[in-house]
Amino acid sequence: MSDKPWGGRFDAPTNAFVEAFNASTHIDARMYAEDIAGSRAHARMLTKQNILNDDDLSLILSGLDEIEAEIEAGKFEFLIALEDVHMNIEKRLTDKIGDAGKRLHTARSRNDQVTTDTRLYLRKRTDAMMLRIRGLQAVLLNLAETHADTIMPGFTHLQTAQPVTFGHHLLAYLEMFERDVARFEDARNRMNQCPLGAAALAGTTFDIDRHFTAKALGFDAPTANSLDSVSDRDFIMELLAAASICSIHLSRFSEELILWMSAQFSFIELPDAFCTGSSIMPQKKNPDMPELVRGKSGRIIGGLVSILITIKSLPLAYNKDMQEDKEAIFDAYDNLEGCLRVFTDMLPDMTVNKEAMHKAASSGFSTATDLADALVRAGVPFRDAHEVVGKSVAYCIRESLELHQMPAQACANIDARLSVEMVQALSVETCVAARDHVGGTAPHQVRLQCKAWQQRLGDEHA
Ligand code: ARG
Repeated sequence: MSDKPWGGRFDAPTNAFVEAFNASTHIDARMYAEDIAGSRAHARMLTKQNILNDDDLSLILSGLDEIEAEIEAGKFEFLIALEDVHMNIEKRLTDKIGDAGKRLHTARSRNDQVTTDTRLYLRKRTDAMMLRIRGLQAVLLNLAETHADTIMPGFTHLQTAQPVTFGHHLLAYLEMFERDVARFEDARNRMNQCPLGAAALAGTTFDIDRHFTAKALGFDAPTANSLDSVSDRDFIMELLAAASICSIHLSRFSEELILWMSAQFSFIELPDAFCTGSSIMPQKKNPDMPELVRGKSGRIIGGLVSILITIKSLPLAYNKDMQEDKEAIFDAYDNLEGCLRVFTDMLPDMTVNKEAMHKAASSGFSTATDLADALVRAGVPFRDAHEVVGKSVAYCIRESLELHQMPAQACANIDARLSVEMVQALSVETCVAARDHVGGTAPHQVRLQCKAWQQRLGDEHA
């Protein structure tokens, strides 16, 4: 009566709209290689355990090879009526090899199959993602080396705070991306357990060897609890959390690039190949790529929220709701990979306007803290020093001067302990060079950090 692999207990065909609504082939077809790899391993295990015979196995293996080639050649037709990638491939196999194909699903369910496929697929994609992040880190490292001495204003509250080196600023992102790699790696290692053998939810009556299948698929071990195996979507949550945090880092960086490229900052210019113009304002060159990357973080974070809420109230074990688990992470991964790629390709061709950076760093009283520090070295308590410098800044604002331009008489009028030598010694170069300790912004420290990163990233590649 029914053309469905599960059609035995049904009398009436599926509602036509439901058939399409229920299907997930448009999402999960991209896991075909993992589905086939899982079937190969499962069939080999069944044969080793004398559940399938050698003839069945060789038919299954050659049939799966053919199917894989058909899919790769674009000659495979995924049918919505067959719901998902698993049943499409199984049905095609059965059409090709008959009963041996029908035996493949022994001691297996789509419930353990789908989560195995998803783990395998995301493992591959996560490895690629980590490589992409490493690529971006290498670009940032190069830039940081070039700009170890380039001085720019450092901000708090987006108000000029203290001068920093541009290299130091870039290395801050290297740190963030390093933690992103660690988060992906950590989640990847935790998910690397094989659910196959959990079957529908309770395990199987057949004498299977789960260690064999796990090993064949490159998993560290079989999962320990069959119910958990088919219900667990923690790995998707963790990977989406890692992706979300990484996209937030890219978004913050984007925001800075956008600000820096504005006429008001003019710190950088992004290459033409990564910008667009306006259809009405001829003068415009817009930083579309960082804007888009900043925007992408919204949908990636949306993916994390989606999986969290989908799973939130689900009773054990499998529920159809779980079919919604893949679209968001596939979308998030595709987009995050795109963001990383754009940044990696765009940043080497960014123009850095050192003069504008230096000028901005030298205004806005960015050296005020250093003047207070000089007073402290002369024996003035820090809170008093803070007050004296505050008055000096107020004076300079009234007189349209910078701190280092204050005349001796003005210094003496504000406080006897404030000397003209102290204000004349102020320069942004001295400010950054003085912060010469672990984690400080001094060019010397930036160079040391770059060396350490070179070692670390080089070791990663080796
Ligand atoms: N397409 C399904 C999914 O992605 C596969 C598992 C279906 N299992 C089931 N018992 N209906 O979740």
